[in-house]
Amino acid sequence: MSDLRDLYQEVILDHSKKPRNYRRMEDSCSRAEGFNPLCGDQLVLFVKVASGIIQDISFEGSGCAISKASASMMTGAVKGKTLEEADRVFEHFHKMVTGQPGDPFDAEILGKLAVFSGVCEFPARVKCASLAWHTLKAALKGEGQQVTTE
Ligand code: FES
Repeated sequence: MSDLRDLYQEVILDHSKKPRNYRRMEDSCSRAEGFNPLCGDQLVLFVKVASGIIQDISFEGSGCAISKASASMMTGAVKGKTLEEADRVFEHFHKMVTGQPGDPFDAEILGKLAVFSGVCEFPARVKCASLAWHTLKAALKGEGQQVTTE
């Protein structure tokens, strides 16, 4: 577990400093805004879907290191996936971060996202880690309005 914790620090630092897919998308077919009212952090997510596949996804906004890293990794994890596959990753991720410490999770489906498994020990951080995912869910449902973590 300490290996996963070390990796967590490393990955969060890397993705928060150099977030992947951090850009505005002018030709997105869907977008949604995520907001955490407890801290004021917010992000806007842009998604382009064609033939049931997430062709492109990007985000912009300001947030803590965890929310930024989580958004960065989320975009990498779902890009190129079908909507069903992305939904499945969401469900597994959500279950992992809202579960109990030590609960088993599907490492095959989650891949690198497994570094967030320790987040469930810190309730305030669960919202940071899941902000981008709830925003993704809203964007894919075509709910362009703001979603909040509360
Ligand atoms: Fe605001 Fe993490 S402290 S999302």
